[in-house]
Amino acid sequence: MFKKYFLYKGISFPAMLYSEQGLQEVENKFQVRDDDIFNVTYQKSGTVWMLEILSLIRSNGDPSWCRTVPNWDRGPWYETNLGLPTARGNKPPRIISSHLPVQLFAKSFFQSKAKVLYTVRNPKDVLVSLYHFAQIFRPYKEPVQLDHFLEEFLKGDVPFGSWFDHVKGWLGLRGRENFFWISYEELQQDLRGSVERICRFLGKELDARALDAVVENASFQAMKQNKMCNFSLSPSFILDQRKSSFLRKGICGDWKNHLTTAQSEAFDRVYREQMQGLDLSFPWDEPRPQPSPPPTDCLDQLDRN
Ligand code: A3P
Repeated sequence: MFKKYFLYKGISFPAMLYSEQGLQEVENKFQVRDDDIFNVTYQKSGTVWMLEILSLIRSNGDPSWCRTVPNWDRGPWYETNLGLPTARGNKPPRIISSHLPVQLFAKSFFQSKAKVLYTVRNPKDVLVSLYHFAQIFRPYKEPVQLDHFLEEFLKGDVPFGSWFDHVKGWLGLRGRENFFWISYEELQQDLRGSVERICRFLGKELDARALDAVVENASFQAMKQNKMCNFSLSPSFILDQRKSSFLRKGICGDWKNHLTTAQSEAFDRVYREQMQGLDLSFPWDEPRPQPSPPPTDCLDQLDRN
């Protein structure tokens, strides 16, 4: 009974946590405040990591809030049945998480000064993370084989729809003053520098000690040990953590341990087709081939002219 999905405007949602009425409320009636901070991602792209970073920034690096209040109360997923009343009731400035594609987001956001931070991750790692997550997250259908799950993922036949549409949709807002995007890979590569960039976007100044505290408490190890963000408080009828954990590996490139060459190439074909025309490069993209320099005898000729 937990495996039922329903479609809302062409996007599938698990019925255990979402409802058509709730999604309509969010889209049409949710009152966004100018001081709201939205933590938006396609699932498995680093949502809870960014939520921890935002919570720590808001607390000037002091981990007390993060250690005493579950992350789903600090930054509720406002499109879920349980998250919506929490988001509405939280004290401003609110941190609100969301996996909604841009076209289903609260309409009032687009007339507001509220800020969106969008985190994007190598979709092959998203696929692998989601494949493991779907095995322990009871509202989701349990995937049978990676090969089949890969096909569904590439078609967008998974909750929240296509990764490609999600990313292209949200990144269409880049250039707006109240929109910021960053990749999971950048967070991995330089967490301190990333936190500084996030602070600049939020207009928040942290001194060096506070920055250090954010970095320390948002590390994978620290988060794994914090029951307010490692989901050990989740009831087992929601998350069955006997097989895997929510904070699973926390690395870049785990897809290489799971996808065959053929699967990876099939992924690349769809990726190229779907992302063409998007004038952006991501940390996981192959470097574009540079035009080769003219042969040296041509240069000699140019010199002579
Ligand atoms: P893996 O399954 O690859 O380990 P989301 O929060 O969007 O559901 O994303 C979950 C993914 O982010 C998981 O990836 C999880 O381990 C990873 N993650 C969460 N916190 C992290 C951290 N502090 N550092 C690195 N990865 C983290």
